[in-house]
Amino acid sequence: MIDESKYTLRVSAAGRVNLIGEHVDYCGGKVLPAALSLKNTIYARPNGTDKINLSWTDIPARITLDIGRLGEYKDVKYADYPAGSAYFWQKAGHPIVGCDLVYDCTVPFGSGLSSSAAIEVSTIAALAALAGEPIDPVEAALVAQKAEREYTGVNCGIMDQYASACGKKDNAILLDCSTLAREYVPILLGSCVLVIANCNKPHSLVTSKYNERRAETERARELLREKADISCLAELTPETFARIGFVLDGEGKVKDRARHVVEECDRVRRAAGAMKRGDVDTLGELLNASHASLRDLYEVTGVELDTLAAAAQAHPACKGSRMTGAGFGGCTVSIVERDGVTDFKRTVCRKYTAKIGYEPSFYDCSIEDGIIVTAL
Ligand code: GLA
Repeated sequence: MIDESKYTLRVSAAGRVNLIGEHVDYCGGKVLPAALSLKNTIYARPNGTDKINLSWTDIPARITLDIGRLGEYKDVKYADYPAGSAYFWQKAGHPIVGCDLVYDCTVPFGSGLSSSAAIEVSTIAALAALAGEPIDPVEAALVAQKAEREYTGVNCGIMDQYASACGKKDNAILLDCSTLAREYVPILLGSCVLVIANCNKPHSLVTSKYNERRAETERARELLREKADISCLAELTPETFARIGFVLDGEGKVKDRARHVVEECDRVRRAAGAMKRGDVDTLGELLNASHASLRDLYEVTGVELDTLAAAAQAHPACKGSRMTGAGFGGCTVSIVERDGVTDFKRTVCRKYTAKIGYEPSFYDCSIEDGIIVTAL
């Protein structure tokens, strides 16, 4: 347990669940994520030196970063995300105060719930708070994204860091990833609740496959621009794509990838409308359609996520279920009648374990604020 009296600040940033709008943020699409009560918390105090001392509540490592050499920790296990965040925050012109930072992360690693974004954003928020600077959550998100892309090599979009920084209790964020315009949409699911389940697939090579998908969408955009005046794939309607998609014939999987992006953007639009009307049935159907597209067109699911989503979708209390995050492993999000949740978990667990050979995990969590700073 942390002795809070020894620190001056407690700063946290959230993990996130994405309700719908998967693999569209880097194509300029809209997404619908929400910040979770699973989060990374940092206990912080200034230490009067030119060093940042990192430690963790659940990892025995202790690592010291030299504030003058923050660019040099890319290959240091555990330190890469904190150091990368501090490095790009410094490069953005912000002062860095020597400090002791203790990390306490309740977002499971590799779960697709953005533990990395929670670590990055909370690091930046802690450094800003220690330096007495006001925190602009959008700037924190953009710098955290830069750290993830340029320090750790994942060519990610803005969704995770944005949700981690700007999330709002009991709301989803309808975020336009091309303009960063946002709208908070209250998560009103009537008699239903969100259930998040982890397929617990052992570590997979998400980074290389992620970057490969992203390159495929870039290729699609370049070719489609010959027929339509677009700056990003999200600007295409399904109708336009049906007319001009032939330019992708002969490009292997590229046409399927682009079709997913175009149709997923359309589903986000309809899902946001359904959420605002409280139309949970339609929202659930859109979640199911999103999963099918990620499985068949975008090919980022795998047998574990497919089995978990199918078991969920087959349960009578479930309105809809899909993978959330980058995929290739990680979590599903399901909309489930509150009264049926216990049976839902039991049945899904039984079916999944029978096929895959090990159990999934279910997380008890709620939708909360993104960055929270508390003076101790
Ligand atoms: C990861 C990335 C996000 C987004 C999702 C897929 O979580 O960090 O930017 O692309 O995958 O929707």
